[in-house]
Amino acid sequence: MAWALLATALTSASCGDDAAPSPTKGAPPSELDNSAVELVRAVDENDDPGVFELSLRASETTKAFAASPETPVWAYNGSVPGPLIEANVGDRLVVHFQNDLPEETTIHWHGVRLPAAMDGSLAMQNPVPPGGTFEYEFVLRDAGLFWFHPHVRSDIQVQKGLYGTIVVRGEEPAADRELIAVLDDIRLKKDGTIEEYLDDEAAALGREGDTLLVNGIASPTVLAHPGETLRLRLVNVANGRFFNVSLGGLPMRVVGSDGGLVPRPWDVTSIVMSPGERLDLLVQLQGTEGDELRLTSEPYERGHESGDGPPLDLATIRLEGEPVEGAALPATGPTMEVLPEDAAVVSLVLDEEFRDGELAFTINGEAYPDVPMVEVGLGELRRLEIRNDAEMDHPFHLHGFFFQEVERDGAAVPPEARIWKDTIIVPRESTMALVARFDEPGMWMYHCHILEHAELGMMGEIHVE
Ligand code: C2O
Ligand code: CU
Ligand code: CU
Repeated sequence: MAWALLATALTSASCGDDAAPSPTKGAPPSELDNSAVELVRAVDENDDPGVFELSLRASETTKAFAASPETPVWAYNGSVPGPLIEANVGDRLVVHFQNDLPEETTIHWHGVRLPAAMDGSLAMQNPVPPGGTFEYEFVLRDAGLFWFHPHVRSDIQVQKGLYGTIVVRGEEPAADRELIAVLDDIRLKKDGTIEEYLDDEAAALGREGDTLLVNGIASPTVLAHPGETLRLRLVNVANGRFFNVSLGGLPMRVVGSDGGLVPRPWDVTSIVMSPGERLDLLVQLQGTEGDELRLTSEPYERGHESGDGPPLDLATIRLEGEPVEGAALPATGPTMEVLPEDAAVVSLVLDEEFRDGELAFTINGEAYPDVPMVEVGLGELRRLEIRNDAEMDHPFHLHGFFFQEVERDGAAVPPEARIWKDTIIVPRESTMALVARFDEPGMWMYHCHILEHAELGMMGEIHVE
């Protein structure tokens, strides 16, 4: 079946139901080889179809980025990005983690709803020492794209290459091809090593590299047939860079976000994603054989005059082979629960300031660990009223729970526009209200996902009991 041929070309496209109409008109499309761009897949070591079990080892290795000499990196199972774990909703994930790094670490499962003891934050577990091990085990309750990374010195450990992805399959929109793309950036010195030194100004903004990476590759080329519907599943794992994603100005339908598919997809020609966020986009690749579509990051002003500069290349999509009639774009997605917007209020003020000559990023005037803990009764709702007094955008991230944005700068977000998020841009000098239900006990972190900001204090804890 042509469907299957297409599916093997990239990460296997799960294409709705088997009764979907044939995507081809005329001759079946030839197989296009995109294996060089694909993520490395984790191999399931367990025969039980309801369990995905793997050994995951963090260690030092090297990687050749573009034309530079080999770069010393830190990697999960030897690859940057780390392996893609592909499982089904309801599966149990079992990870035998081994730390072979020269320093302590943990694994945090960004966006995954799980028991707090498995969350990988230092509020819930001791760091895994060099040579140590830890068993992570939890059920994957939600379909969507998630990722994992350390929660110890995350600004350093993530930029050294420690990040991987989890795709949890559930109800899936029809598409002819799927590309799971991990967006990152890196700054390399002439000798190939990662530039870790940051002056105050660079640290203040969050580190941005000068080389943009898609699945660890600078400017890769992805092959697709003219007319195909491409499913682009993006995750931003950069320390500080916001990607303003555009595909040659083509309309892109946003069908999913952090918490999986959205009830009411919408169309964009470009869309901003901050560190930590995920997007699920469907694009009909209009054009003819030989056409090249540029996936770019367009300029975006996130504060402190950061919006200058030309569009930056992420990847090229080259149309090859027979044209196909692409899968139709869905007008609707699954329904979702709309949370009530009036709940007990938690006020959080984000700001930046110099204290004793040191830059601090604060919440309610304090830097972590001095930010007062928020106490929530198990199962209760909270309305997080966030005010960003800083002159730059901060991506607010909550561990363990999805939230819904219910108000922005005083204007209500209508119930039909609600989506599940775990990371959201709080624009500079603005206000936002988020509602979440805290239905899992334990200590949960929330923080800015510009990793330098989190490490410099913009982080707090929510205790659910
Ligand atoms: Cu990806 Cu504590 O975050
Ligand atoms: Cu997280
Ligand atoms: Cu920030």
